[in-house]
Amino acid sequence: MELGQRIIRDHVELRAQLDRVRSLKDGLSIQNELRSLSKALAEHFAREEEGGYLAFVIERSPWLAVRVQILGSQHAEIRATLVGLIEVASDPDRFAHLTEGLQRFFDRLHAHERAETEIIQECLYEDLAGAD
Ligand SMILES: [Fe+2]
Ligand SMILES: [Fe+2]
Repeated sequence: MELGQRIIRDHVELRAQLDRVRSLKDGLSIQNELRSLSKALAEHFAREEEGGYLAFVIERSPWLAVRVQILGSQHAEIRATLVGLIEVASDPDRFAHLTEGLQRFFDRLHAHERAETEIIQECLYEDLAGAD
């Protein structure tokens, strides 16, 4: 379950990156940090989608498949929202709406990642229990 542990570590790092964006005030810095977040997310999602979204979880713990499917449909939407936010951050006329948009996006992403972490931990736990 090395991949599962790697994904959970990504979640911790992404969380730190979100906190960094939150601490920034000017448009250019926010834009740059969002672009770097976008790159990190693309790599992270690719890891989760390797061989099928969270395939290693379903293989070991098929009863988690329904919860996995629900989360699996969220990546495209999260990516699209972030692309939109980078555009807002680059547009002085819409910059006033950025904070609200970012907050909604962060809440959405936190909920997604938290749910994944829970599923992976359940799967890891089952794996350990099954090894006895
Ligand atoms: Fe994900
Ligand atoms: Fe994730």
